[in-house]
Amino acid sequence: MAVAVAHLAGVIGATVTGVDMRQVPDAALIDTIETALERHGVLIFPEQVMSPAEQVAFSAALGPLEPTGNIDARLDGHPEIFVVGNTGARPVTFAPQAGSEDLEWHTDHIHREVPARASMLYAKEIPPDGGDTLFACMYSAYDALSAEDKASYETLNAVHSVSGLRAYLQQQSGDKPYDAGRQAPVPDAVTWPLVRHHPVTGRKALYFGAKVTVGIEGWPLDKALAFVAGLTAHATQDAFVYRHVWRVGDAVLWDNRRALHAATPFDLDSHRRLMHRTTLREIHPV
Ligand SMILES: [Fe+2]
Repeated sequence: MAVAVAHLAGVIGATVTGVDMRQVPDAALIDTIETALERHGVLIFPEQVMSPAEQVAFSAALGPLEPTGNIDARLDGHPEIFVVGNTGARPVTFAPQAGSEDLEWHTDHIHREVPARASMLYAKEIPPDGGDTLFACMYSAYDALSAEDKASYETLNAVHSVSGLRAYLQQQSGDKPYDAGRQAPVPDAVTWPLVRHHPVTGRKALYFGAKVTVGIEGWPLDKALAFVAGLTAHATQDAFVYRHVWRVGDAVLWDNRRALHAATPFDLDSHRRLMHRTTLREIHPV
């Protein structure tokens, strides 16, 4: 079956058919996927049926993988797979409580010394409603800024820390204490330019997260947090967002240098959501 890439209606995202992820991709298919990822930012591969080993092999063909820092969320026997869901003893969902609009917009591993270039989520179980994943195009968010804001934002360095993420997860867990489990060590904070140049396309993109970005270098904390909140509202407006409503078997690959993403709420107590994520290491400097 021929591989076909169909652009979705908005500013980010395409559907890719004709790919069987049980097979390790050859050089031509890798080239097709990388080109489509550069062009579309988010790629949806529907109707996949693959084992953890097959997902790891397919992902690793695209580049070196990075296990999640959440050691307890690594799949037994396949540490490259991050189990995202509420089906195990310790839920890892990144979804806010039902009814909350306070989404955890982020780009994977921004708080680590080597961020994630791309990530793949493979849907194994999905709730009947909610638990969607939103993807926001940070090229569009940058392009829509005024000339003055572009010039000033390009001088800013943003500070990112897992502490911001943990504070959010604690807040979302309500009166239950949030249990992070065993974690690989990460720096207290890392600093990246707020505007990054995509190493392949050359486009400029805003690079931050709603919760994980905890400061702007040289700014007082209150001013920085207010700025990040305003930037999140700008960058995640509907015109820049693709909403992925999952079907079991969907594999979605996205470019963390271009897309912010966030899970939407679902009923954690009544429904199951289970995803397997593989994460590709950044191979260019930010
Ligand atoms: Fe993520």
